[in-house]
Amino acid sequence: MAQALLPVRFCLALVAKMQWKSTWRKKRTARSDRATQMLKLTIAIDGPAGSGKSSLAKRVALLLGYLYLDSGAMYRALALKALRKQISFDDFVALDKLARATHIELQPPTSAQEAAGSKNCVFLDGEEVTQAIRTPEVAQGASRLATIAGVREILVAEQQRAGAGGGVVMEGRDIGTVVFPLADLKIFLEASPEVRADRRWKEHQEKGETMTLAQVVEEVHERDRRDRERKVSPLVRASDAVLVDNTAMDVEQTARLVVMLARERERELSKAAAREA
Ligand code: CDP
Ligand code: CDP
Repeated sequence: MAQALLPVRFCLALVAKMQWKSTWRKKRTARSDRATQMLKLTIAIDGPAGSGKSSLAKRVALLLGYLYLDSGAMYRALALKALRKQISFDDFVALDKLARATHIELQPPTSAQEAAGSKNCVFLDGEEVTQAIRTPEVAQGASRLATIAGVREILVAEQQRAGAGGGVVMEGRDIGTVVFPLADLKIFLEASPEVRADRRWKEHQEKGETMTLAQVVEEVHERDRRDRERKVSPLVRASDAVLVDNTAMDVEQTARLVVMLARERERELSKAAAREA
C-alpha cells in the first residue's frame, strides 16, 4: 500500500560499470577531502535538435571515464507510452498522471549496442524501447509533453538524483539552466539549422526511413520553436555556458575541445580544493 503513495518511480539504473565511486554521490563539498584527488565534474550540454549533443556527450564521457546521460530519452519514452495508450498530448492532466505511474530506466549501452550507435539503453516499464523511441512521431510527442510543468518536475528530480555524484555528462535542453544550474562546465551546442536538419535526415536515410529533407527540416524547426518558446524551462543558453558552434566541426573535434575545457576545469577545482584543505 505504502508503495502506491510514492511518487513516480523513474529509476535510472546507472550501473557501477561506469566506475562511480560512492564518495562522488555525496555533496560537492565532501568531494574535496583529499586535495590530491582530481575532482570529477558535472558537465551539462544543451542545444537544439541535431546540434550533436548526444554524440558529443557520449564521446566526452568515454574520454573522461564519466557517465553519459541522455535526458531526452526520458521525455521520448514517456511520449511513446502516451502514443501507445492513445493519450492526447493536449491532455495535461492525463499526461501528468501517466508520468507518475511510469518507470523509466536508462542503462549504459553494451559494447555491441555502442558500436551500432546506441545512446543510453532505455527501458520503459521493463521493456526495452531504445530504438522505438527514435522516431519523428515520438520526438514530436516528447517535445509536446515537455511543455508540461508537472511532467518536467518528475523527470528533472530523477535526473538530479542520477547526476548528484558528479562524474557525469548530461545532455538535453535545460541541464545547465534547471537540472544542474551549478554544473562545473556548461556547453551550449549550436549548428546552423540547415546542417542540423541535414544530419537528422542522413540518420533517417541510414535507417531506411523515407522522410524527405523538407519533412525533416519542418520537424526539427517545429520542435525547436516549441522548445525555445515554452513557458517552463525553455531552451536557452545559460549565462555561464560556453557557446560551441560545431557547424563546421566533426564530433571528434568538438569532443576534444570540450575535454580540454573539462581538464582545465578539473585542475582549477582541484587547486581550489587543495587551498581549502
Ligand atoms: O543529440 P542531438 O540531436 O543534438 O544530435 P546527435 O544525435 O548527437 O547528432 C545528430 C547526427 O549528426 C548524428 O548522426 C551525428 O553523428 C551527426 N553529427 C555530425 O555529423 N557532426 C557533428 N559535429 C555532430 C553530430
Ligand atoms: O535528440 P534530439 O535533440 O532530437 O531530442 P532529444 O534530446 O531526444 O529530446 C526530445 C525532446 O524532449 C526535445 O525536443 C525536448 O522537447 C524534450 N527535452 C526537454 O524538454 N528537456 C530535456 N532536458 C531533454 C529533452
